[in-house]
Amino acid sequence: MLKVIDVLKYNGINTNNARDYRLILQSIIKNKKIQDLEYTLSQNEEREFINLKSRIDNDEPIEYILNTAYFRNYTFYVDNNVLIPRKETETIVPYLSSYKSVLDLGCGSGAVGITLKKEYNNINVTMSDISPEAIKIARRNSKNIDIQIIKSDLVSNINISEFDCIFANLPYIDIDKKDEVVKSVYSYEPHIALFAKSKGLFLINKLIQELNRKRFKGCLFLELDPWQIRYISKNKEIIKDQFGQNRFIKIEY
Ligand SMILES: C[S@@+](CC[C@H](N)C(=O)[O-])C[C@H]1O[C@@H](n2cnc3c(N)ncnc32)[C@H](O)[C@@H]1O
Repeated sequence: MLKVIDVLKYNGINTNNARDYRLILQSIIKNKKIQDLEYTLSQNEEREFINLKSRIDNDEPIEYILNTAYFRNYTFYVDNNVLIPRKETETIVPYLSSYKSVLDLGCGSGAVGITLKKEYNNINVTMSDISPEAIKIARRNSKNIDIQIIKSDLVSNINISEFDCIFANLPYIDIDKKDEVVKSVYSYEPHIALFAKSKGLFLINKLIQELNRKRFKGCLFLELDPWQIRYISKNKEIIKDQFGQNRFIKIEY
């Protein structure tokens, strides 16, 4: 029979995974606190700990194990059908706040669109994604929030004249460099959310062209990798993320 203190002792306070072990332990013992060092785990709890620990040791992100991700102080349900929202993406939210009607294209979990609506309730927010599984999760996360969700390949199914702003965090990792991607990302996050052809710019360039063709009137904000920016031929403004990296571009149509 293991006590909390034993679990903490045997699972190395100083190892890289110590924080994640503590998080799974807390999630398993639910109402008890892990500060309650003398609490004795039930057999089920012990078994569950061994199971979740092995997932962490196998590099599975804690967000998928606990089905929880945080984005600008809000909590989102995530599983391996959606990208885990990234810290750097949080920066863009205030930049979208001065528009009346915003499309979050490639919404995944819905982190950007939902946060925008929560922080600026007067904005009309629509979210879209090509993945039916992502749409399901975005719906779940936006329950009781006034947001429209559309399944669409880029803007093929969207009336863009309804929007004065589009934000798109499309997959932008170069598919030819997929071998360089760390295991926790490559083996667990959905490839439809990660990879694109043509130096990772295939979907981004396609979207830029489609908006030209459809005579979009408004602002397009795109997230990409800093080195990709020079390959975007349109006039653009560069926006840094909170870590000082050139992470977004703004294109006026
Ligand atoms: C990098 S993830 C971004 C998810 C979310 N916006 C975020 O920032 O956490 C890219 C998203 O684009 C979606 N996607 C991929 N190809 C697409 C396409 N052709 N049209 C619309 N969405 C697409 C993926 O399903 C995925 O949810």
